[in-house]
Amino acid sequence: IMKVQVLGSAAGGGFPQWNCNCRNCAGVRAGTINAKTRTQSSITVSVDGENWILFNTSPDIREQLASFGPMQPNRAIRDTGIAAIVYMDSQIDHTTGLLMLREGCPHNIWCTEMVEQDLTSGFPTLNMLKHWNGGNHVNRIPINEGDEANEFTIPQVPELKLTAVPLLSSAPPYSPHRDDPHPGDNIGMQIEDTRTGKKLFYAPGLGQIEPHLRAYMESADVLLVDGTIWQEDELIVTGVGDKLGVAMGHLPQSGKGGMIEYLDTLEKPRKVLIHINNTNPILDEDSAEHAEVLSHGIEISYDGMSIEL
Ligand code: MLT
Ligand code: MN
Ligand code: ZN
Repeated sequence: IMKVQVLGSAAGGGFPQWNCNCRNCAGVRAGTINAKTRTQSSITVSVDGENWILFNTSPDIREQLASFGPMQPNRAIRDTGIAAIVYMDSQIDHTTGLLMLREGCPHNIWCTEMVEQDLTSGFPTLNMLKHWNGGNHVNRIPINEGDEANEFTIPQVPELKLTAVPLLSSAPPYSPHRDDPHPGDNIGMQIEDTRTGKKLFYAPGLGQIEPHLRAYMESADVLLVDGTIWQEDELIVTGVGDKLGVAMGHLPQSGKGGMIEYLDTLEKPRKVLIHINNTNPILDEDSAEHAEVLSHGIEISYDGMSIEL
């Protein structure tokens, strides 16, 4: 059995976001809407329940580790359930928490060349952490033409075969190649338990569903995919900003060409949304949008959700 724990189900900013007074954030703060608070985007995966691959290190990492017993020091005076850390991109909401894990350096980190470049230049956390026990062991996630070359195995959890899938998106604002997208700026990940053949496909940031994703999405047993926004102009209609979904690299759920329409074409997988922005109406469990998502057989992840496959 492969165990997947959702540590954080919200997009950048979390829910509620500290400076946001939108209907959702104000409502969850006041307790006037039926919604769960959420921390920022992260999952962790294990086969033995003891050694965990942590996907992303969110700014909320302390709270997330505290919320999940197997992550806590159980075996030695200084210890953690984190066997390795894998990055999907170099965004603030996915990487900042590494600084909070400095006492445990060196960590076994896996990232693409592009992510390592960002984390040693525009957001130089890996350089900074060299001052803590020499820093981290950084391993390369391969990104090549042809999918098989992108497979890799993390020695601490050898039962899992990982396959990185490059996704079209831009690098963060502080990246040296912000306006010049490269494969590996942002990836999805297929995680296969080689003992059972069961597969998870994880992609918290999906701006568009490119043709090469089809094979991964239709063969997955479980999909954990981008649930950031309900509609393309959500930041505008909720009054919090001016960016469209396409500019943020997030595909909306609703409408023609949206995530719901696409997920409807897939028969096999269990479908779960993650990385949900605080403006998204699906967070209100009494909303029509929440009901619509569920009516398509799609689940909405929450912090503390456990999935076994
Ligand atoms: C995103 O997913 O679009 C980014 O993480 C936004 C952010 O938090 O800066
Ligand atoms: Mn994000
Ligand atoms: Zn808000």
